[in-house]
Amino acid sequence: MTRAKIIGTGSYVPERVLSNLDLEKMVDTSDEWIKSRSGISERRIAGENQSTSDLCVEAAKKALEMANMNADDIDLLMVATVTPDFRLPSVSCVVQDKLGLINAASMDIVAACAGFIHSLSIAQAYIANSMYHRIMIIGAEELSSITNYKDRNTCVLFGDGAGAAIVTASDDDSGILSTYLKSDGRLSKLLYIPAGGVAQPYTHNGSGPTHDDYFLSMNGNEIYKHAVRSMGNAAERVIKSAGLESSDIDWLVPHQANIRIIQATAKRIGLPMEKVFINLEKYGNTSAASIPLALDEAVRSGVIKKNDNIVSAAFGGGLTWGAVLFRW
Ligand code: UT7
Repeated sequence: MTRAKIIGTGSYVPERVLSNLDLEKMVDTSDEWIKSRSGISERRIAGENQSTSDLCVEAAKKALEMANMNADDIDLLMVATVTPDFRLPSVSCVVQDKLGLINAASMDIVAACAGFIHSLSIAQAYIANSMYHRIMIIGAEELSSITNYKDRNTCVLFGDGAGAAIVTASDDDSGILSTYLKSDGRLSKLLYIPAGGVAQPYTHNGSGPTHDDYFLSMNGNEIYKHAVRSMGNAAERVIKSAGLESSDIDWLVPHQANIRIIQATAKRIGLPMEKVFINLEKYGNTSAASIPLALDEAVRSGVIKKNDNIVSAAFGGGLTWGAVLFRW
């Protein structure tokens, strides 16, 4: 089977930094609590006139440059996000326009923090059956727009950013070796936005949802327990189905949600923390952007080298989870 291969990465984070010390002034929290419970020191917040599509464009330009491609080479664009510019049209169409991807089809992938993993898996399937050949994947979020900065349970965790990857068919033994995706919709209310959809639409007479209903609502403890199980399980599965052992894995590039979840995942697959790429402390949880943001940093800093076997695993609202194993 033809393997899909990442040949270019790029990322972008907004300039504004929101530190734990800033958050101490906004809610009843402390730098010490946030660091010890999550591993996060600061996160980035988009500017007032910056929307998710703008973050996408900056990351995508860098990925195109690394892949040595032009905008009109791309035949499929997938944007993984839960914070599109509009409910209609898809943010991928907005990004297509801003980048001038005139030969592409465009779609949004809504799988929360596992969105980039879902997109890579879809890209693998399309490349394998030759339906699309030069695919751009972007994971991007402006979580600050759906975060309640009066809710200390959530506002200390999330940040904004974007990461992109260009995927084509591999002509050697590098590329995606295995993928695994799973979801459990029974747990959808553990992490969700109550209002804004059809279930609780906006009303003119004020009888509808309250302001707080438009923000993320999360049961952190339950999500945590599930994340530890599901990310480890997904990582184990992709290693096994590629016919590899933990000792064959050079890097785990996980979803950056919580340092303790990452440590538990590494432990489950028997990987020492020296082989785990972490940039969580700088950006917090950027949902669909977190893996491509980390991957780009690892690639550009020379941490990831040719022929390295890399596992990426993620979980998120839905609940959704999954993993991808690829050889660089
Ligand atoms: O990508 C998916 C997105 N979601 C996640 O990744 C969330 C996964 N869950 C987590 O990362 C963790 O559960 C949290 C970091 C959210 C919370 O850590 P925890 O160790 O599970 O803490 P907890 O929820 O058990 O709360 C412990 C205490 C509580 O006080 P009491 O009831 O023991 O008095 C909380 O009210 O900490 C309190 N607390 C805080 N204290 C200071 C909750 N949030 C804060 C806060 N600052 N920001």
